[in-house]
Amino acid sequence: MEQLDIFNNSVDTKEIYEEDKKINKDHVATPRYVVEDIYSLIDIKSFKSIWFPFNNYDSEFKLKADELNLKYKATHIFDDCGNDFFSTEPPVDCDLLISNPPFSQQNEIIKHTFELIEQNKIKSFCLLLPLSTLETPARAEMWEKYVDKISILIFKKRIKFLGQKQVFNKACCWICYNIKTLSKRLYWI
Ligand SMILES: C[S@@+](CC[C@H](N)C(=O)[O-])C[C@H]1O[C@@H](n2cnc3c(N)ncnc32)[C@H](O)[C@@H]1O
Repeated sequence: MEQLDIFNNSVDTKEIYEEDKKINKDHVATPRYVVEDIYSLIDIKSFKSIWFPFNNYDSEFKLKADELNLKYKATHIFDDCGNDFFSTEPPVDCDLLISNPPFSQQNEIIKHTFELIEQNKIKSFCLLLPLSTLETPARAEMWEKYVDKISILIFKKRIKFLGQKQVFNKACCWICYNIKTLSKRLYWI
């Protein structure tokens, strides 16, 4: 019966999301100051069709975008449509993908993001990732291939994600691709 309920879409996806947040180590919610800083650094208002692919109704990326009246599409694996990043289409004429993705899937996410760039489905992106994203042969190969348009913004301090008692146990950075306001390769923020 429960399975039938799921297919009838009567199971509350919001409830599933709220439960998942309590146990999923991949769910670390980005604080507002991190969102406001990156929005300012990349001049978010200059983008006309933005995609937040890992962002549900409570995300600060989305809430701040509402305040700024930005044009965006926010999707999440536990939204009403179960929007899996790997099978969801970006919004039409998407000029920016920006998010804090689940770190455990970072290799597949980086690969798919560059596929979207190659297919001209997105023009630029900013991904919040652990600094260790720069290591391993598999990831290094992907970053090196596109290095001409990459800027890396390294957090001087560890981030205290929302709802966490302590700062995150890994250093983080933004990997930005094809962002006009970022003329240097490396920044410390
Ligand atoms: C690091 S959290 C970031 C949450 C939010 N974007 C923020 O920054 O506050 C990543 C989120 O992506 C969701 N997620 C995991 N796999 C996904 C997928 N394949 N497609 C879309 N969302 C996914 C997780 O449930 C988690 O809530």
